[in-house]
Amino acid sequence: MSQFLPPTELPLPSHLEHLSPTEYLSHLVEIADKYNEFTSLHIVHFLSRNFWDMIDPEWQQALMEPESEDEFIDDMLNLASRYECKSSWPESLKAYVEEMKTTQLPSFDPEQFNTDHLSCTIDRHLLSGMSEKKAHEVETLSMLIKHVAEATDMTSIIDLGAGQGYLSRMLALQHGLHVLGVDADEIQTCGAKFFQGKAEKSIKGKKIRALVATEEDPTEAIAKEKERQSHLNHVTQMITLENIPTLLADWTDTSRWNYREVPAKSWMICGLHTCGDLAPTIIRLFQGSPEIGGMISVGCCYHWLTEEKDAQGTYHFPMSTTLIDRGYKLGPTLRMLACQAPGRWETQREATVKSFKHNFYRTMLQKIMVDKGLATIKVAPVVGRMNHKRDFASFPVYVKAALRRFDLSGTITDEEAIEFEAKARQDGQYRKMIILWTLRIMLSPIIESIILVDRWVYLKDTLPNAKICMWPLFDKVASPRNVVIAALKEGTNPIH
Ligand SMILES: C[S@@+](CC[C@H](N)C(=O)[O-])C[C@H]1O[C@@H](n2cnc3c(N)ncnc32)[C@H](O)[C@@H]1O
Repeated sequence: MSQFLPPTELPLPSHLEHLSPTEYLSHLVEIADKYNEFTSLHIVHFLSRNFWDMIDPEWQQALMEPESEDEFIDDMLNLASRYECKSSWPESLKAYVEEMKTTQLPSFDPEQFNTDHLSCTIDRHLLSGMSEKKAHEVETLSMLIKHVAEATDMTSIIDLGAGQGYLSRMLALQHGLHVLGVDADEIQTCGAKFFQGKAEKSIKGKKIRALVATEEDPTEAIAKEKERQSHLNHVTQMITLENIPTLLADWTDTSRWNYREVPAKSWMICGLHTCGDLAPTIIRLFQGSPEIGGMISVGCCYHWLTEEKDAQGTYHFPMSTTLIDRGYKLGPTLRMLACQAPGRWETQREATVKSFKHNFYRTMLQKIMVDKGLATIKVAPVVGRMNHKRDFASFPVYVKAALRRFDLSGTITDEEAIEFEAKARQDGQYRKMIILWTLRIMLSPIIESIILVDRWVYLKDTLPNAKICMWPLFDKVASPRNVVIAALKEGTNPIH
């Protein structure tokens, strides 16, 4: 099998290696269920529903201990990002932290998952519009796709959900693969074509300048270079299991590519940031399409996943019979929790502390509203997006802005807001809320693992002879949604 895929298809945490993937999936669900009180809560109700009481008093005392605010914040960030405990903390708290750390799918480890062969320098003409994060992802994922494509002779790639085409351009213009970028959104396709035109023009110019600089007569080579079309095409289409055969048949026709080589017979389907239902769609397209021999995809945005059967009677989550048979559902709160990135708290300290403050304002407002009969204890009215600079200048300013949105202006005075905040801070409620939030966010990788392992188990159940690998490909601080699923059907064995 390809040396570019890890030898173990689904590496499990070391102390759970004795479990089968299906048993591991059930174990993850058991852990998530065990802490259901934490996972299912909304921090907005922290004060109005006394959530502090759900934390073990011994843990409360230990975590509230630091005298300075800085030390307290350090403790919380180290806990969330590095599972770091203080030696003085109770054993039961350390056991919880250890359980969170060691139950989730193994995290990115360059020693376990060698990435040396996945680094390259992105041509500067392809960098246009890419953030640093996107560049890290495009560099690594495109190198993986290139290696697997070349090793299996599967050099026709469909980049599904291509967006602005960052991955497509890298695969086609730098790695020389045939790439069909497809997106349901015409605006995305237009953007991708615009960037493609710009990149091709500059790369062609660069190549021609290099040819002119050679001592041999470059005339013929220059003419060829000018004539040559790239291996990249973009189309707009919402792809389904029903329409993909026609699309692939159309694009297997050589004349479409304006290129001499015949595109390879078997396609590889790829996707970067296959948000929501796109990730399960790619998995089903791979599993159900004889024209597709390989798949490499990295998902994201679990909050967009649908958990109801679609018109064809299929689920996007869960996919495996293991979870479907038990009627398992995550619901929106847990799906949202799966999207969190505790690994980044430490490096994004300022943004994390800012979001503590914003959420503290929201939970204080909810408590005042419930106390004054302006909201019920069950429902928290949705504030929506607020202006980060203007609306969070102080708690009374925030209260005014939020009440305007609820059409309740004037129902809480500045004095009431100031007094409430002073008392809440004096009672340590700010720290208490952060403690609960930190303990809860540590469950996020467990929920993400459920979603990912469910996909792996579905594929293995339906294609038992395929090679199906799942492992963390990106640095989780640079790119928190870092797990790739790479699969090769039987018969697509590497040629090298
Ligand atoms: C989060 S974006 C990712 C864009 C790009 N791959 C990137 O990494 O920048 C996901 C894209 O998938 C597209 N999409 C979702 N489902 C699709 C489907 N079934 N067929 C085609 N495009 C789809 C959306 O329009 C959206 O542009």
